[in-house]
Amino acid sequence: MSQHRHLLRLAGLPTERLRAVLGLANTDADVDPQPVLRGVSLATMFFEDSTRTRTSFTLAAQKLGASVVDLSGSGSSRSKGESLVDTVKTVEAMGVGVFVVRTSQAGAASLIASAVKGSVINAGDGRHEHPTQGLLDTLAFARAHKRTDGFDLSGLTFAIVGDCAHSRVARSDVAAMTALGARVVLCGPTAMCPPSLGAALGCEVTSDFEALLPEADGVQMLRVQFERGARIASARQYRDGYALTTDRASGMKAGAVVMHPGPMNRGLEIDGAVADSDGSCGLPPSLVLEQVRLGVAVRTAVLREVLALDGGGLGPAAERLPTEASL
Ligand code: CP
Repeated sequence: MSQHRHLLRLAGLPTERLRAVLGLANTDADVDPQPVLRGVSLATMFFEDSTRTRTSFTLAAQKLGASVVDLSGSGSSRSKGESLVDTVKTVEAMGVGVFVVRTSQAGAASLIASAVKGSVINAGDGRHEHPTQGLLDTLAFARAHKRTDGFDLSGLTFAIVGDCAHSRVARSDVAAMTALGARVVLCGPTAMCPPSLGAALGCEVTSDFEALLPEADGVQMLRVQFERGARIASARQYRDGYALTTDRASGMKAGAVVMHPGPMNRGLEIDGAVADSDGSCGLPPSLVLEQVRLGVAVRTAVLREVLALDGGGLGPAAERLPTEASL
């Protein structure tokens, strides 16, 4: 490894670096990259459950020729009380140089980055950020609207609908898409989308889904994160106000796309027919599985970029580590 770099968050990442990693990912989505990580050991350390992120990081690392070890909370000595930092330093002592970390604690990836010599990639820390998800969502949206030449998203409106307050995906999406010029609007009941969130993130907020929907070029539906304390009065009431039903989706504007980072709760925030739409039957196309597919390419690109294998690296984000108090 030539340099030790991290990817901890998208907020504050210089726009030229954002464009560079999206450009690499756009290439990797169509042509498998060379195995430039031979001799590198990478650990996926997921202390929260995952299907998409963990699997795609593993596949990405394997495509690049890295060896991969996998740790989770229940099968590791974390369950005996070992601290997160001690756990990562223990694995580092065995020769692992890249740590892909998911935790329920906002700021944990930054804390680990300050404690180890290797590279840390944040795979989701509490409600703070999920940077590779933000990148893959941006790539999917840009490809759908043929904006991959320079990734200029100006003139496009991206709606993020549902439990924004608990969503690290929303925070990373806002950071990436606004940096590239998109108008981003958070939408949901006030408890899930308070105006203060929009003010903090630098985007619009509305509770009027019906008014927003015809303006949106992309609608990212979010899961209600009950595990982080989200509450709804009833599934029916939530669905009536904020689900992307077939009726609502059929009124979306021409060229608009439906997105969801997954996992989905079909019948709550999104109808199954909308999630599975191929763009026929009067419904906009769903990018849900395209987002998953692009997730592998984004992760090969991030690994190449973080390890400075294509020049540049994502250093400036690492140099602006958030303090624990700011999270
Ligand atoms: N979108 C996402 O992070 O999915 P997983 O929890 O399955 O990784």
